Amino acid sequence: MNIALIGYGKMGKAIESLMPDRGHQAVLKIDEHNRASLTVEQLRQADVAIEFTGPDSAPENLLLCLEAGIPVVCGSTGWLDQWSRIKAACEAQNGALLYASNFSVGVNIFFALNQRLAELMNTHPEYEVSLTEIHHTAKRDAPSGTAITLAEGILGVLDRKKDWVNHLSDHPEELEILSERIDPAPGTHKVRYTSDIDDIEITHTAHNRKGFALGALLAAEYIYGKKGIYTMKQVLGL
Ligand SMILES: NC(=O)c1ccc[n+]([C@@H]2O[C@H](COP(=O)([O-])OP(=O)(O)OC[C@H]3O[C@@H](n4cnc5c(N)ncnc54)[C@H](O)[C@@H]3O)[C@@H](O)[C@H]2O)c1
Repeated sequence: MNIALIGYGKMGKAIESLMPDRGHQAVLKIDEHNRASLTVEQLRQADVAIEFTGPDSAPENLLLCLEAGIPVVCGSTGWLDQWSRIKAACEAQNGALLYASNFSVGVNIFFALNQRLAELMNTHPEYEVSLTEIHHTAKRDAPSGTAITLAEGILGVLDRKKDWVNHLSDHPEELEILSERIDPAPGTHKVRYTSDIDDIEITHTAHNRKGFALGALLAAEYIYGKKGIYTMKQVLGL
């Protein structure tokens, strides 16, 4: 496939390095220095766009891809306050969009494990739950998009928690997400249930960015030729 890489930083470059082996080529590579080249006409050379820029630029980049009529895979995190606007634009233009807070196969298995553990814990109020995420210091958003997905997975099933907060909390109905920034961590997420008797902790640690990059390419291959809004659950058949 011909792929437009919107965002040519750590993730854009990691994705590009895996493209030849999967038979793909980058026809457009956009970073903040050549932003002017990001036009509807340029985008139409591509079969699919992969967007990894950041929270401020992602929504406008997605709208441009939808306007160009090309399917778009988005890995930028921290912009979900704009989700309803982007979803509406995708539906209005009969476009194709796949957003994932985390593209790695391992994390998507971890999401399923997190949800199952929360189901088991729903009848065990003696366990207090909290989340921790650790990333490199250049990460702009906190908590991480992955931590938010984990929190939503817990809030969806654990009746004693009503909302997540990104700080220490004394309110029993709040789910704590603690964010730590330590170089060069590509991403660690921990879900911890603690009681007077014991603790249960599940952890996912990314060793590098290859898992995110491969997952983004799998998503691009999946969405090519489709219309609608998809998630990694569909790509991975989870
Ligand atoms: N979903 C996932 O699996 C996953 C994994 C890793 C990172 N991320 C997210 O992806 C995003 C990018 O991460 P990264 O580590 O590659 O960051 P990075 O800082 O290394 O790269 C960002 C790139 O976007 C470009 N850019 C910034 N603003 C732009 C704009 N307005 N227009 C065009 N290009 C612009 C920069 O020049 C750079 O090339 C972040 O939001 C990060 O949290 C998601």
